[in-house]
Amino acid sequence: MAETCHLEGKTVAVTGGGSGIGRAVALACAAEGANVVVADYGVDLDGSNPSSERARAVADEIAAAGGAAVAVAGDVSVFAVGAEIVAAACDTWGAIDGIACPAGVLRERMLFNMTEEEWDHVVAVHLKGHFNLYRAGLARMRKQPTGGSLVGFASGAFVASVAQANYAAAKGGVVSLTRSAALLAASLRLRGGPPINANCIAPVARTRMSENVPFEIETGEPADVAPMAVYLMSDAGREVNAQIYTVVGRRISVWNQPAELRSMWAPGDRWTPAGIAEMLPGAVGQEPHPFVVDLERRLSARAETPRSQP
Ligand SMILES: NC(=O)c1ccc[n+]([C@@H]2O[C@H](COP(=O)([O-])OP(=O)(O)OC[C@H]3O[C@@H](n4cnc5c(N)ncnc54)[C@H](O)[C@@H]3O)[C@@H](O)[C@H]2O)c1
Repeated sequence: MAETCHLEGKTVAVTGGGSGIGRAVALACAAEGANVVVADYGVDLDGSNPSSERARAVADEIAAAGGAAVAVAGDVSVFAVGAEIVAAACDTWGAIDGIACPAGVLRERMLFNMTEEEWDHVVAVHLKGHFNLYRAGLARMRKQPTGGSLVGFASGAFVASVAQANYAAAKGGVVSLTRSAALLAASLRLRGGPPINANCIAPVARTRMSENVPFEIETGEPADVAPMAVYLMSDAGREVNAQIYTVVGRRISVWNQPAELRSMWAPGDRWTPAGIAEMLPGAVGQEPHPFVVDLERRLSARAETPRSQP
């Protein structure tokens, strides 16, 4: 029989499971037969005003539909909360088979005006939040014969962002952390360990977080993102490892893996600044940054547009 995509008999935890994409992932996991830990701090978009109601409401929704769920209302940026979420799964159902981490906040500000608190909070929720869950999850998964799955939530903004440098940096960290977890999982498996996979979804969907994004660009619904999280946590997706997938509407795209492209060697013992200045443009050059290229194209288009006459 082909490996199944459903989650019957599995237990998963979904951070940020109380709203937006996390809620859609939690509901989809329950619909596919999983026991679900709905973990959500119940905060506003900027991370303020925590409430335990939001996680509870989705757990109740799952139970009302005949599924099995428990709610945890902790803050994922707190180290002990990662362990608490995994313990809620293991104490209730005896295992943790999948962890998806869509919990997130935004505090927009240009880098030159950003406060230390705006930086610390966003990096803590996204990057440390992923670390806390991966750390607690892997400690358990590596001892389960069936292993498990980690699904990080990145963003196309990990490439760069004008007004969300804290968020972009945190998402870049999530990508590197997830690739590191994937590498560790592969090395454990080489030494006879259980199957564990770690991947990232870079979603785009209409939620409160994307309200201010100019969506003449492509978007979709949170429910469009959820099947990919289910797949990556199912037995059918277990061999997928160390990947970043954009998921938006009907489109799923895989990101490339970063690698060196071109090299040059010093003619003597080491490079001098003048030697680099002479050789670098022709030898290794630069790689176009897609967002910067786009801004430069718009700048030159503006320069070429004739000014309207009075
Ligand atoms: N919506 C998009 O288009 C989009 C685009 C790129 C990336 N993402 C990423 O997808 C993920 C989900 O985004 P969304 O649009 O559903 O956001 P959302 O604001 O709708 O939901 C985020 C949830 O995370 C919870 N949360 C926030 N801080 C928390 C904390 N410290 N501990 C526990 N829970 C916490 C909130 O209470 C909320 O329920 C995020 O990681 C986001 O960065 C979303």
